[in-house]
Amino acid sequence: MTDHILIERPEAASQLLIIRLNRPEKKNALTRAMYQAMTSALQMADETPDIRVVVFLGSEGCFSAGNDMADFLAFATSGEMGREVLDFLKALVRLTKPVVSGVDGLAIGIGATIHLHCDLTVASDRSLFKTPFVDLALVPEAASSLIAPRLMGHQRAFALLALGDAFSAEEARDAGLIRKVTTSDAVEAETLALAAKLAAKPPEALRLARKLIKGSPDEIIACIDDEAKLFASQLKTAEARAAFEAFMKR
Ligand code: COA
Repeated sequence: MTDHILIERPEAASQLLIIRLNRPEKKNALTRAMYQAMTSALQMADETPDIRVVVFLGSEGCFSAGNDMADFLAFATSGEMGREVLDFLKALVRLTKPVVSGVDGLAIGIGATIHLHCDLTVASDRSLFKTPFVDLALVPEAASSLIAPRLMGHQRAFALLALGDAFSAEEARDAGLIRKVTTSDAVEAETLALAAKLAAKPPEALRLARKLIKGSPDEIIACIDDEAKLFASQLKTAEARAAFEAFMKR
């Protein structure tokens, strides 16, 4: 159990399950316990007929700074990559219900790539999407190497995933990573309004439509596994360890 992930069923919109990242003092960096809590929430959402839409939200000014660097360093040292992140990604890919996300501020690493698996994302105009994988001597994850080039074309995907360019909210919208840009104070309300709009649709038709639009999850899962092998071997390199240590010692 961790209180760094809050699971909310708002009374006014009880068909929504909100997964809220709640570790603002660490910019919502994701730990193994947080992935585990999110996986359980996704499983619960899938099994509960009343829940029609899953919503990811972060904190004011920060969606997530990505995977916890201390966990990266621990993986680099032990050589063992935890199952939690892969279990989470696979549960997200296999989820049969729509996913909506709201971003205000930083969305780094998996905090950015998670939105490739969301159906609608609203972001504030001060949001930044960035994946410094290569700078950390790592490789893209979460099937971003498959989905991003299809979505935004090779050059933009390369700028995001390999060059490590930060995309503004407008750039992210133009690239198809998010649906809408709004103001910081409106992000949460607009995200929940979109989710409620989806929740009001005939659920079986929505499920089928989404399945048709997304295609088979198997290709995405296979890509996640392929990336994970390279990611795990890169984690053990001296250059990756040096990058994590440099961050931890700042
Ligand atoms: N893992 C663990 N802790 C993190 C973190 C991460 N990914 N990102 C931020 N934090 C922690 C910082 O260590 C700091 O903790 P402290 O107050 O105990 O020292 C706290 O969150 C605030 O971060 P700070 O760096 O002081 O804030 P900032 O506004 O100057 O910078 C970031 C924010 C997100 C730009 C910067 O923290 C950063 O680059 N983080 C790493 C992002 C990253 O590379 N993630 C992995 C992607 S694959």
